[in-house]
Amino acid sequence: MLNTKRTCTGRAKGLRARGRRGLALTGLLGLGLLTGCQPAQQTLTIGDLASRYNVAMWELSIVAIALSIIIFLGVSALLFYTVFRFREDKNPDEAQQFHGNDKLEVVLVGFPVVIVLLLSVLSVRTMAQTTPVVEENVGSEITALAKQFWWNFTYTDTESAAGGLVANGNEMIMPAGRSESGDPIDTKLTLQAGDVIHEFWAPNIGAQRQAIPGSEKVWTVHTDRPAVYQGNCNYLCGASHANMRYKVIALDPTDYATFISAAQNYVAPEPAPGSAEERGYNLFMNGKAETGAVACAACHRVQGTPANSPVGPDLSFFGTRRTLGAGMWEAPLEQGWDDPQANQHLINWLTNSPGVKPGSLMPPYDGSTYQVNGQEQKGGVLTAEEISDVAAYLKSLQLPEEANYWQKVERFNSESILPGGPQ
Ligand code: CUA
Repeated sequence: MLNTKRTCTGRAKGLRARGRRGLALTGLLGLGLLTGCQPAQQTLTIGDLASRYNVAMWELSIVAIALSIIIFLGVSALLFYTVFRFREDKNPDEAQQFHGNDKLEVVLVGFPVVIVLLLSVLSVRTMAQTTPVVEENVGSEITALAKQFWWNFTYTDTESAAGGLVANGNEMIMPAGRSESGDPIDTKLTLQAGDVIHEFWAPNIGAQRQAIPGSEKVWTVHTDRPAVYQGNCNYLCGASHANMRYKVIALDPTDYATFISAAQNYVAPEPAPGSAEERGYNLFMNGKAETGAVACAACHRVQGTPANSPVGPDLSFFGTRRTLGAGMWEAPLEQGWDDPQANQHLINWLTNSPGVKPGSLMPPYDGSTYQVNGQEQKGGVLTAEEISDVAAYLKSLQLPEEANYWQKVERFNSESILPGGPQ
């Protein structure tokens, strides 16, 4: 399904191709292993220095690692010297006692204190570099809502012409790069949790933050490189924790402005009379009462239509999206959901969402039972043809071509993380 052909061999080659800095960072911290090897799947990449946040962390890590090495070598040298110099066969008498040596005690206590103070000052400085929101650098304001098991990204600084704020499920679009003065173009993120604790983690753009119900986290993320990055929930939150993924699509500022302006003016296309899209539209808005099939509009929003519910992810431009089920499946860039395999995943999803994604709260439409808060419930029924009509309607929900953010950037590939690596 996915264009990246990531394999274990590919990863090893990628590691060799990285610069010394990258090897030092991933190697010394032992973090390279965490990215894992997942064929045909975009992997998380740690240590991406295109993000100003990661640069600050890198600088702190280097000082901490260098200090640790110096201390290790110093202590080892003293240890070996002492063992050699004062070995028993050359020193048969009782060792000289020096209890109460003030100078030695001052050195032994003072040295660790200085090291701890130095690291504390550097850590506080790094926190000061990475935490505050500098309003003049903010190029975009996004509220990320985490729920079991999906994400909604709402553009809180952009009112749409059709009413309400621009929003997108599971694909976060942000500006990348720097302003003319060289300041990073930041994205101000406000993180919320809709049910249990989740965690926002997109290592390429900087930081992870826990989403805790009843509170908000506000910080900024940044990258210099327009690309598609992987994000995951990073806090065990239920049956589909591992299936709670998202994409971060960082666009250069002009492309981002094009996207936002198109999204603000977007009104879902009106289906042609008598078309599959129109039948799908009717089912989407009204469901089918006689078979108990709940309307999609009961839980989803589609900008410019009567569907305006915040219960589930925003589907306003689903047809432009290339991920389904919070990143469980991906459609090829060009064909999108017209690709037969991608279309089949969409049909399977609509037919029985909890059957293909454990814990999904979207009701099945093949009459299967599913669990809501531990209670067994029975889904309604749509025929295969009706499900295909709903899919046709969803596929028709597309932004104008110039705002198709997937066409603006390459899918990110970790071989290109560091300066000097293949781009
Ligand atoms: Cu949400 Cu793990």
